[in-house]
Amino acid sequence: MNLHEHGNRINDFNKIVFERRAIKKYDTSVKISRDEMKDILTKATKAPSSYNLQSWRFLVIESEEAKSKLLPLAIFNGQQYNEQQIVTSSAVIAIFGDLEHVASAPEIFNAEVKQGSMTENVKEYILEAINIHYSNSPDHFRKDVALTDGGLVAMQLMLVARSYGYDTCAMGGYDKENIAEIFGLDKERYVSVMLVSIGKADSDGRPSTRKPIADVAEWK
Ligand SMILES: Cc1cc2nc3c(=O)[nH]c(=O)nc-3n(C[C@H](O)[C@H](O)[C@H](O)COP(=O)(O)O)c2cc1C
Repeated sequence: MNLHEHGNRINDFNKIVFERRAIKKYDTSVKISRDEMKDILTKATKAPSSYNLQSWRFLVIESEEAKSKLLPLAIFNGQQYNEQQIVTSSAVIAIFGDLEHVASAPEIFNAEVKQGSMTENVKEYILEAINIHYSNSPDHFRKDVALTDGGLVAMQLMLVARSYGYDTCAMGGYDKENIAEIFGLDKERYVSVMLVSIGKADSDGRPSTRKPIADVAEWK
């Protein structure tokens, strides 16, 4: 067990939100155990998703071998991107969206009926509504859903990681077209959302600024 496993937890939501920074260099001695990573992912997947269909899928890339498969995917015009995050982090979590997520709708709603939070009638109603919605939507609809769900779970993952005393960096600088295939996933089925490096920060991140709310929100 490493020192961080049951320590450094943060329960103060303001600290979690205001002190999260995109961290590019991690303490290489810190590994996140599989049990702890499962806890983090369990909390991350409490994120909302469209019809609760939970289209997200995760690849926890932690071994040297898997990281060395990932590194070449972050080379553009001969230049390596995101190397430090990938190499020094405890893991890089590759988030994908399953374009066939609708197939698991019966399983998800049967579980709700079983736990007593939904009646059989409501289940049938929702399954029919989903069926109508999906069969009357354009092709890009499933991908839009997968990317939206994936973005929400990524954000929740980064906040949960902070609550466990870990740091993260979202990454979009890699080859999204080919990552699924390189890691043995069906590329027609799994759309790449983003990578999230996770570990214990080795140096403080740069405090970033935000636009004033007056520039990004309006009231009607
Ligand atoms: C979708 C997305 C993709 C990103 N891609 C990268 C990346 O490839 N490499 C990187 O170092 N940071 C990346 N970032 C991190 C942003 O640069 C960072 O979140 C932003 O500058 C704000 O800083 P903060 O997160 O510390 O507040 C990405 C963030 C997001 C949300």
